[in-house]
Amino acid sequence: MKIAVLPGDGIGPEIVGQTIKVLEALKLNMSFEHAPVGGAAYDLTGEPLPAATLAAARRADAVLFGAVGGPQYDNLPRAKRPEQAILGLRKELGLFANLRPAIVYPELAGASAIKPEIVAGLDILILRELTGDIYFGQPRGIRQLPNGDREGFDTMHYSESEVRRIAHAGFRAAMKRSKRLCSVDKANVLETSQLWRDVVTALAAEYPEVELSHMYVDNAAMQLIRNPKQFDVMVTGNLFGDILSDEASMLTGSIGMLPSAALDEKGKGLYEPIHGSAPDIAGKNLANPLATMLSAAMMLRYSLDQEAAAAKIEAAVRKVLASGLRTPDIYQPGTQKVGTVEMGAAVVAALS
Ligand code: IPM
Ligand code: MG
Repeated sequence: MKIAVLPGDGIGPEIVGQTIKVLEALKLNMSFEHAPVGGAAYDLTGEPLPAATLAAARRADAVLFGAVGGPQYDNLPRAKRPEQAILGLRKELGLFANLRPAIVYPELAGASAIKPEIVAGLDILILRELTGDIYFGQPRGIRQLPNGDREGFDTMHYSESEVRRIAHAGFRAAMKRSKRLCSVDKANVLETSQLWRDVVTALAAEYPEVELSHMYVDNAAMQLIRNPKQFDVMVTGNLFGDILSDEASMLTGSIGMLPSAALDEKGKGLYEPIHGSAPDIAGKNLANPLATMLSAAMMLRYSLDQEAAAAKIEAAVRKVLASGLRTPDIYQPGTQKVGTVEMGAAVVAALS
């Protein structure tokens, strides 16, 4: 199994470093090829996604990604910004299906800003389309109108086939869980969403066991706070999914705990924590490596067909949480604060 390792910026190298230790401790037949990405790659090569990095990602069976971005890159032209690396990888590798689970670990229910009774036991999956929508739509730009006023514009579109493949992924995910699928759109206003809703509705006939519902995105944003446990799998477009998945992460109170997967048609994927590069705490042994380790578990499960190893990592993480160890982001009085390295060592120890 060949893994491309793209640590990126900020806390990326620390959290990925600890995760590699966990993967090595599993003693699977894995090889790792490191490549720079994001700001780190820009500093080295002038490009956030160098051709060699993209080639390493293409060669690999799966990609383990840290995080990209930092204040020193914020004023670069858009094409050179670190975010372009992740957008480019998604597009170039055809990673259209983004799985973003939001799980509340019993030990961390008190860490949420929402009342524990609303979030305790929460386990939802947001399935976000990742290679279409207004993120990639053309035309886009900033232009001058005849009256001298400047105007920014972007184009939202989805083809039937794009909607169909992510909807299929949504129905299949629902079949593996509680068989409830909520499709989120803005069909009361947007043509793109009307087509989305029509296509998803038509597919439902192929999955008679799945209970399909539709919800407007504004209402979904509200319902996620009011009663998040009404949801199981939510499927939505790129932009709405970006926003709703950040919202859902906060229900758990611990963005440092949430993994994600971005998969292509064949199940090859890129795996990354959903949190960012956190430049303010980089290099200080403060970052929580658990989301990256849980992303590696998803990698073993979805791309490498190693369910037992995936479950082993997840069990080790739960064991370490139960033992009371906490990085500062999930610390609560009565638990024991540890650093990135100590947390990594504890997970490695808990594997055996
Ligand atoms: C995410 C991020 C990215 C996105 C950015 C960094 C381009 O917010 O993965 O959710 O908008 O998709
Ligand atoms: Mg986002």
